[in-house]
Amino acid sequence: MADYASEIEMQDTAKDAKFWNKTARKYATDPVADVAGYERTLEQTRRYLKASDSVFEFGCGTGTTALKLAPSVAHILATDISTEMIAIAREKAHAENLVNVTFEVSTPAAAPQPDVSFDAALGFNILHLVQRDAALRGVHRLLKPGGLFISKTPCLKEMNPMIGLAVPLMRMVGAAPYVATFNASELKHSLTAQGFEIVECDRHGSNTKDPRIFLVARKL
Ligand SMILES: C[S@@+](CC[C@H](N)C(=O)[O-])C[C@H]1O[C@@H](n2cnc3c(N)ncnc32)[C@H](O)[C@@H]1O
Repeated sequence: MADYASEIEMQDTAKDAKFWNKTARKYATDPVADVAGYERTLEQTRRYLKASDSVFEFGCGTGTTALKLAPSVAHILATDISTEMIAIAREKAHAENLVNVTFEVSTPAAAPQPDVSFDAALGFNILHLVQRDAALRGVHRLLKPGGLFISKTPCLKEMNPMIGLAVPLMRMVGAAPYVATFNASELKHSLTAQGFEIVECDRHGSNTKDPRIFLVARKL
């Protein structure tokens, strides 16, 4: 499946971490573009989570989603490659006095947690920013059998084709991180190839043409 230039290109995670560190303080203050769509995603995600669940999140950014979902579960380990994003997330958790969320600099592939540690995993706006087969293998390893992986991902192939052309150029000058282009069926294929079955596939955006796909997948 890796027949697209942007996917063959290797991700330089140290360079990406630097990019996201620089962006973090601004990212933290940017308003959510589609509040109603975001609320739909939170609501639908909560339907799959149980109060007893131990949850792993990757690419958590400044922790907004983890902090909103924490009251619905037993514990969330929320991770990101960016030390700055994690520092902001910890400040927010402290300010909100939430004690069942832990923020760590980590990735699914590098996480030191034992196999089958988690009931559910979350990945929002992140699968297009990682080498997704490696990330999905990591998530699969961390989940208990039957555990759920809940994600929402922009499918760049469904967006303006200029994005696919512009990103490699921007990346050359450090103005963009690694970005992979794929469509919804390619993403679903990646999940099934790594041992998941698709449980739900939806779009939550307020615009009729939402390129971000909400997927719930179960570890087989
Ligand atoms: C677009 S933001 C999404 C943040 C949050 N999940 C959200 O929905 O607002 C992408 C996040 O992924 C992180 N990230 C980028 N590459 C990563 C990687 N290879 N592994 C883990 N996190 C990564 C960035 O630091 C950033 O915080």
